[in-house]
Amino acid sequence: MPRVSYAFFLSAIVYGICGMVLGMVMGISQDHTLMPVHAHVNLLGWVSLAIMGGFYALAGDRRPPRLAWVNFALSNIGILLVGPLLAVLLVKGDMRVVPFMALGEVMLVTGMVVFGIAVLRTARTGPQATSGSVAA
Ligand code: HEM
Ligand code: HEM
Repeated sequence: MPRVSYAFFLSAIVYGICGMVLGMVMGISQDHTLMPVHAHVNLLGWVSLAIMGGFYALAGDRRPPRLAWVNFALSNIGILLVGPLLAVLLVKGDMRVVPFMALGEVMLVTGMVVFGIAVLRTARTGPQATSGSVAA
């Protein structure tokens, strides 16, 4: 498996642990103020990054390596901006964080676009490297 996939999975696991612990804290405290943070750290962090890492592992040598790392950087920085800043917005109502959150959201969307380009580039790169039944 390529190093970029390990990087995706390891960061996804960190977000997954943070998201689950936050879910437990919400459940125990019965304070669901941070529910959107919990939902998006889990869905953008654990789920989305694991899907991307899984794709690059399946693509193997056919993946575009630089695009994969650009995807990794954009998606991670996006989550690291949006998660904590959304928490600040929800808890403190501090609207000054909104422009920085918007920057994080643009990075997340751009990361997804880069992922889409990487998928298309992989599809156009030669025959299947492994002898799977999905060569067509
Ligand atoms: C130990 C693991 C987890 C715990 C203790 C936990 C706990 C919670 C709690 C207490 C809520 C609030 C429910 C409410 O306000 O009605 C919630 C909502 C939510 N959780 Fe989790 N959660 C866990 C894992 C996950 C994971 C892994 C995901 C996604 C992959 C996830 C996605 C969501 C979503 C999307 C919501 C919002 C649901 C809605 O809109 O009503 N959770 N969770
Ligand atoms: C840039 C990316 C994203 C932005 C800006 C965004 C924004 C939002 C907003 C504004 C809400 C409404 C929150 C509320 O009513 O309190 C929401 C809810 C939700 N989003 Fe997202 N979202 C993004 C990505 C995603 C992704 C990738 C998933 C799933 C894979 C997802 C799943 C959900 C779910 C399940 C809810 C309902 C739970 C909740 O209220 O937190 N979102 N999102």
